Amino acid sequence: MWAQLSRGLTVLQESPKGFPKDESGESDEAMVVEADLRNMSVLVREEARKGRAVGFVPTMGALHEGHLSLVRRCRAENDLTVVSIFVNPTQFGPNEDLDTYPRTFEADCAALEALGCDVVFAPRAQDMYAADHSTWVIVEGLTEPLCGRYRPGHFRGVTTVVAKLFNIVRPDRAYFGQKDYQQLKVIERMVRDLNFGIEIVPCPTVREPDGLAMSSRNAYLSAEERAVAPALYAALVKAAEAVRAGASGDEVEEMVRRELSAVPAFEVQYVEAVHPETLEPARWAGPPMVIAAAAFLGRTRLIDNVIVES
Ligand code: PAJ
Repeated sequence: MWAQLSRGLTVLQESPKGFPKDESGESDEAMVVEADLRNMSVLVREEARKGRAVGFVPTMGALHEGHLSLVRRCRAENDLTVVSIFVNPTQFGPNEDLDTYPRTFEADCAALEALGCDVVFAPRAQDMYAADHSTWVIVEGLTEPLCGRYRPGHFRGVTTVVAKLFNIVRPDRAYFGQKDYQQLKVIERMVRDLNFGIEIVPCPTVREPDGLAMSSRNAYLSAEERAVAPALYAALVKAAEAVRAGASGDEVEEMVRRELSAVPAFEVQYVEAVHPETLEPARWAGPPMVIAAAAFLGRTRLIDNVIVES
């Protein structure tokens, strides 16, 4: 079992963690669950001082195979794997799902321990944000299209919390999913522009067998909504094929909208074909292109994308 550390209390492990792992890659040491910011920094810095590569996977919990694929990759490429679980209030809008966001902390820890995760960082919101918190990290330009247009302040919350987590954990590498393509690009830009010196590792989107991108928010879907949800990815796959055959950005945007209009339950928020790096509208035909879409099924907002490389 993991050692639960909360409210800033330090509970010593029965034995110090024996990094690095043995030849099988397995560590028989208990996973540490740390809530205290200072303890977290000290723990990781001691490992880094011993020359151990620190990998980091930031999450908001309610872990599924998408998250776990990042953790596996992190573990394969680093000596110490740190996963944060923090439902970050500053990236939710006033009418969004902060209060109902799924929280499955015990199950998350069990899954992480089974994978051989070394440290879970689960800070409290009041420790992450002082009552008079007033400093924000803002990435301009890249945050304007796609989700940025419909979720004002969202990326400011994401970049601020990720910058804070990076400063606490100071990893060598951090793992982000292509499922949230714009977030990945925004974080890459922040790390470059602010000289964080952290390698950002993009990881492919993990899907259900029927194509639906795994998401913590899929838990909100009714049985009827879940049944039609794969249509979003199916439409994007068709668009990607069309781009490979030479279709333009405008044409595939129209195509995805048309496909989704055949499913009355979908209320499309945006369909945008963009350049994979600049996220500017794709005013050309053929690759490279990312086609990204957001659509509501009832009150659940789904996002997905396909990357068509040249
Ligand atoms: P969350 O939605 O929990 O996602 C954590 C990480 O898992 C992100 O990098 C996300 O892109 C990745 N991920 C989610 N679903 C995935 C899937 N189906 N396949 C592959 N990767 C997937 O993204 C956030 O949390 C937050 O914004 C965070 C970065 C933690 C900042 O609060």
